[in-house]
Amino acid sequence: MNLQNAVALVTGGTLGIGKAIAAALAAAGARVIITGRDAGRLAEVARELGVHAIQADVAVEADVLRTYAEVEAKFGGLDILVNNAGIGVFGPLVDFSLADFERVMATNVTGAMLMGREAAKLFVRQNRGNLVNIASTAAVRGAPNGTAYYASKFALRGMTECWRAELRKHNVRVFLVNPSEVITNFAVTAGFAQKDHPSKLQSEDIAHMVRAILEMEDRGFTTELTVFATNPQD
Ligand SMILES: NC(=O)c1ccc[n+]([C@@H]2O[C@H](COP(=O)([O-])OP(=O)(O)OC[C@H]3O[C@@H](n4cnc5c(N)ncnc54)[C@H](OP(=O)(O)O)[C@@H]3O)[C@@H](O)[C@H]2O)c1
Repeated sequence: MNLQNAVALVTGGTLGIGKAIAAALAAAGARVIITGRDAGRLAEVARELGVHAIQADVAVEADVLRTYAEVEAKFGGLDILVNNAGIGVFGPLVDFSLADFERVMATNVTGAMLMGREAAKLFVRQNRGNLVNIASTAAVRGAPNGTAYYASKFALRGMTECWRAELRKHNVRVFLVNPSEVITNFAVTAGFAQKDHPSKLQSEDIAHMVRAILEMEDRGFTTELTVFATNPQD
C-alpha cells in the first residue's frame, strides 16, 4: 500500500514501540492518530510527532467506541489499525493474583479485541483495511513467570488467525508482528530491570519492519513476522 495520506490508528502510541511506529508512519506521509491513557504524555507526543491524539484506555469499551467515532468524524475512515498497547506483569504461578492476571488480559486481549472489532466494522464497510497486531515472541513459546503475559500474547496470536480467516475476503490484511526483547519503558512498568546494550533491538527496528510489511503491494501480505536481535549482549 501507499502510506501517503493513509489514516493510521496506533494504540499505545506515546512510548516505545507504538511511538516509533507512529513516527515511522507519519514520516511516510500517513495521517496518524495515537492513543494512550496518560493525557499529559499523549499531548506532548502528539505535538512532538505532529499527529492527532485521543485519550483512551483500550480496555474500556466506551473509550474504544469514542475513539472510532472521533476517527470517523475527523478522518472519514481508517486504513490501518496497529494494536500495540500492552502491559506485562510477571511472577510465579503459585503467587499470581487474579487481579494482576485480569489486568494483563484486559489490555492485551480484551483491549485488542475491542479495537480490532471496531476497525473490522469499518474495514468490511470500506472493503479494504490493514490490521497489525503487535504480539511478541511470548506468543509462540512459554517461559517461567510468564503466566499472564504469555497467555495474553498466545491469545492475541489466536485472534489474529481468526480475524485473518474472517476478513481476508473483504480485502483486509491481518498481520502479526512478534518482537523479541526491545529496549523500552515496558520493563520499568512491569517492575523488572532491563540492561540496555547497542546490540539489542530498539523500537525503531520494529517500526521499520511494520512500515515495510504495510508498504508491500496490497495483493500480498506477511502473515507473521518475528524480529530478533542478531547477537544481543547483556
Ligand atoms: N519491549 C519489549 O521487549 C517488547 C517485546 C515484544 C513485544 N512487546 C509488545 O509491544 C507493545 C508495546 O510495548 P512497549 O515495549 O513499547 O511498551 P511501553 O514502552 O511500556 O509502552 C506501552 C504503551 O502502551 C500504552 N498503554 C498501556 N496500557 C494501555 C491501555 N490499557 N490503553 C491504552 N494504552 C495503553 C502506554 O501508554 P499509557 O500508559 O499512557 O496508557 C504506552 O504508550 C506491547 O504490546 C508489548 O507487549 C514489547
